[in-house]
Amino acid sequence: NVYQRGLVAKNVKASDILKDHSSYCDVEKEVKKFDGITLAYVTPWNNHGYDIAKIFSHKFTYVSPVWLQIVRKTTNNYEIKGKHDINSVWAAEVARSGSVAIVPRIIFDGWTSADMQTFFSTESEMGACIESIIDITVRKNFDGVVIELWSQNMGRYKDETIHFMGHLHQAMRELNKKIILVLPPPITRGNIKSGVLTQLDFSRLIKFVDAISLMTYDYSEPSRPGPNSPINWVEACVDFLEPNISSPIRKKILIGLNFYGYQFSNHATFHAVMGKQYLEILSAHKPKIHWENSTAEHYIKYRAKSNDYLLYYPTLLSIDMRIRLAKKLGVGISIWEIGQGLDYFYDLL
Ligand SMILES: *[C@@H]1O[C@H](CO)[C@@H](O)[C@H](O)[C@H]1NC(C)=O
Ligand SMILES: *[C@@H]1O[C@H](CO)[C@@H](O)[C@H](O)[C@H]1NC(C)=O
Repeated sequence: NVYQRGLVAKNVKASDILKDHSSYCDVEKEVKKFDGITLAYVTPWNNHGYDIAKIFSHKFTYVSPVWLQIVRKTTNNYEIKGKHDINSVWAAEVARSGSVAIVPRIIFDGWTSADMQTFFSTESEMGACIESIIDITVRKNFDGVVIELWSQNMGRYKDETIHFMGHLHQAMRELNKKIILVLPPPITRGNIKSGVLTQLDFSRLIKFVDAISLMTYDYSEPSRPGPNSPINWVEACVDFLEPNISSPIRKKILIGLNFYGYQFSNHATFHAVMGKQYLEILSAHKPKIHWENSTAEHYIKYRAKSNDYLLYYPTLLSIDMRIRLAKKLGVGISIWEIGQGLDYFYDLL
């Protein structure tokens, strides 16, 4: 595995990453080393994740394919979109090979503020929405769902969302289905408590879910190039939500690990970088790989077509340190997403 091969290190070379990235430990591919909950997202647009989910199914507690959106059609009428992306054959194979629960993400996407207001205004509207979620879960034999509803409202409709989650939880529990909620980081750059998610919000929501997928990434912005997920910030987010390290609630918090990177240019452009693109950049420019101790991330700098680039992409060491942090904090992990990473990352999980 990557530890025995000495690859989990501060000093790494581009040539080593290029040589080693696709060699994972075949003997241990069915061994889950991290004992907390592990959630892995899979997207149809990076379909290598479908293979990763099968190869390493024993390392994941939950696999969440990003297939579905829910929209409001008319009065008491909600529709699940994205059904054409559902791949039941693959889901059955993944579920069979490990003891993985398949929990597709359902995002409340493209809602107008009028939709949101109407949805939260009556029990029958929320009930109809829950029926649609239950219907697809049962009909497709999913083990549960991941719900993405909180961030969109930027701190509005908190009481209503908590109320809705209470009903959804009850309906799912009767069917023995899991429910996971996506939440934004409670603290933003510069140690600012955004207020979008408070400790009180968290403590009211946590009892209605099996886990929280906490989006502890996307820390930097085009105007402020920098790391994706400084390690101290991740720790601060967990401590803020549940300060008591002995609390059993802790294990329901899944800190977010990005398996993508970000590239910043000197012209304030900024885009996400997948594993495959990172390898192309390493191959073309052979940059020196620097370790940033304060954030526990590696970065590279290179110049191309008279632009200067700064690129943060996860490495074995940065991921290893976050897994060790998760162990120390008593929390789980959620990975966005397994189509974007490098194959040898999974030796760490
Ligand atoms: C922390 O959680 C444990 C386990 O639930 C509990 O026994 C303890 O009293 C809590 N400590 C504080 C300070 O709340
Ligand atoms: C590296 O960072 C850690 C954690 O932030 C700190 O404790 C340590 O002193 C730092 N080491 C150096 C060499 O700066």
